[in-house]
Amino acid sequence: MDPLSILEPAATRVRDPLSGRSVWLAGLIQDARIDGDTLRFVLAVKKEHGADDRQRLREALLRNLAEKGWTGEIVCTIRVEGVAAAGAPATAASAHDHGHGHTHGAPPAPARDAIKGMSGPGMQPHGGPITKAMPDGVKRIIAVTSGKGGVGKSTVATNLAVALAKLGHKVGLLDADIYGPSLPLMMNLHGKPVGNDKKQIVPIPSHGVRCMSIGLLVDEKEPVIWRGPMVMGVVNQFFKEVDWSDCEWLIVDLPPGTGDAQLTMIQGVPISGGVVVTTPQPVALLDAVRGLEMFRKLDVPILGVVENMSWYDLPGGGKAYPFGEGGGARLATEYGVPLLGQVPLKESIRAGGDAGRPAVLDGEGVFLSIAQKVAKLV
Ligand SMILES: Nc1ncnc2c1ncn2[C@@H]1O[C@H](COP(=O)(O)OP(=O)(O)OP(=O)(O)O)[C@@H](O)[C@H]1O
Ligand SMILES: [Mg+2]
Repeated sequence: MDPLSILEPAATRVRDPLSGRSVWLAGLIQDARIDGDTLRFVLAVKKEHGADDRQRLREALLRNLAEKGWTGEIVCTIRVEGVAAAGAPATAASAHDHGHGHTHGAPPAPARDAIKGMSGPGMQPHGGPITKAMPDGVKRIIAVTSGKGGVGKSTVATNLAVALAKLGHKVGLLDADIYGPSLPLMMNLHGKPVGNDKKQIVPIPSHGVRCMSIGLLVDEKEPVIWRGPMVMGVVNQFFKEVDWSDCEWLIVDLPPGTGDAQLTMIQGVPISGGVVVTTPQPVALLDAVRGLEMFRKLDVPILGVVENMSWYDLPGGGKAYPFGEGGGARLATEYGVPLLGQVPLKESIRAGGDAGRPAVLDGEGVFLSIAQKVAKLV
């Protein structure tokens, strides 16, 4: 069993009093693993968290894990960040029996009493179902993937989002690429998102689309050093803790690849349709097949294939096919899915991306036609 599948829904319900976010998004859960029937993880608190906070967070986690169905042992080690391990005031403690049995280690926490009294600030009450629920306010989620990197996923996702907005729809755009977020550049996003009175992050609007990206929260030059589990947690939080109210279409720009990371990111929410972007050459098509298979595995309806960089218009007239011809169409036929469109390789499309002004705004009609097909298919 994946330790994150049990930790994530439990930890998203526990608020970190310091950051105001869930302990999951705040990155306090680390080094999760399951040994036999023991769930182990580190609660990485800050020096500023008082002893009371630490115990309260730990107890809340144990209780929520039990409520989420974990019946094995739990070893939750509290580690104080920024304090050397040797003299650290960190305490290791474990609890078992639904996470609210007796505890071992120091300090011995009166777990049951603490649980009964768990109504302090920062703790969420019992929430609704977490998995496979459509995020509040969202009507449909469209995931854009490619398998291979650099084939134009973000270009297609941004233009599709802006095109849908141009067609009169209410659109959100979520950059799920945590390591290489490109939305701030490609949508010309500035400023830090603020919170609303429901403690949700408010997305930044641009070209009629509400946008969210880790690039808005983390300094561009700072490496995103979170480990895989945290990364997935952040994307899940982006679905659940961002104000997507009244969002008819949420377009998700997935990171390159079709591994566990991508699967985990989208398996917690119902995806209404998947779009696979590919360039026409065999090496990209091979990866696109993996994208199609990923959607099949998750029972995501496949809306179709977008072939990008299909040709180049020669200055003297005629077309060149630097990546080969017709690969996207062949793939679509083979898989029995629609070819949503063929996007030419054009300097204006690249320049639009770099300038934060998706080319559809300047009349690149193919994206409008792709958006119309998507809107019809869903
Ligand atoms: N049709 C096109 N014509 C010209 N340039 C394009 C086209 N499509 C994409 N590009 C450019 O190619 C580069 C890569 O595109 P993009 O960032 O959209 O790819 P990606 O698949 O999202 O990449 P990554 O895997 O890194 O997320 C960008 O500079 C983009 O502007
Ligand atoms: Mg991208």
